[in-house]
Amino acid sequence: MNILSLQNVTYQYDGTKKSVLKDIHTDFETGGLYGIMGKSGAGKSTLLSLISGLDLTTSGLVSYGGKDMRQLDRDRYRARDIGVIFQGYNLLTNPPAIWTATPRRI
Ligand SMILES: Nc1ncnc2c1ncn2[C@@H]1O[C@H](COP(=O)(O)OP(=O)(O)OP(=O)(O)O)[C@@H](O)[C@H]1O
Ligand SMILES: [Mg+2]
Repeated sequence: MNILSLQNVTYQYDGTKKSVLKDIHTDFETGGLYGIMGKSGAGKSTLLSLISGLDLTTSGLVSYGGKDMRQLDRDRYRARDIGVIFQGYNLLTNPPAIWTATPRRI
């Protein structure tokens, strides 16, 4: 059964002249394991941001469980149905901030 579907997906970042993704079609089956491959800059992270509901297509349809991502409650979708590990996860690297967060007995 298709759980996630992309139809004619195109994406263009604001202020740019070229589409990063052009007319992508693909389906993801329940229980499947998939890899998205491409050279650096090909648009893998952009595609993941659309699949994960962090961003919306410029045109075309992303649907989950038969529901258009534009109509879906994306906060709920992100809380319950999809998880993302970010490529740039921006963890704190400043040790004093981490030490400050360590619980202390007083
Ligand atoms: N916020 C943005 N604004 C404008 N252009 C962007 C933005 N983010 C990414 N791009 C451009 O979109 C294209 C696709 O980027 P993306 O990060 O999706 O590629 P990627 O396949 O994940 O690359 P990598 O393998 O290096 O992670 C690149 O040309 C990138 O420079
Ligand atoms: Mg990437």
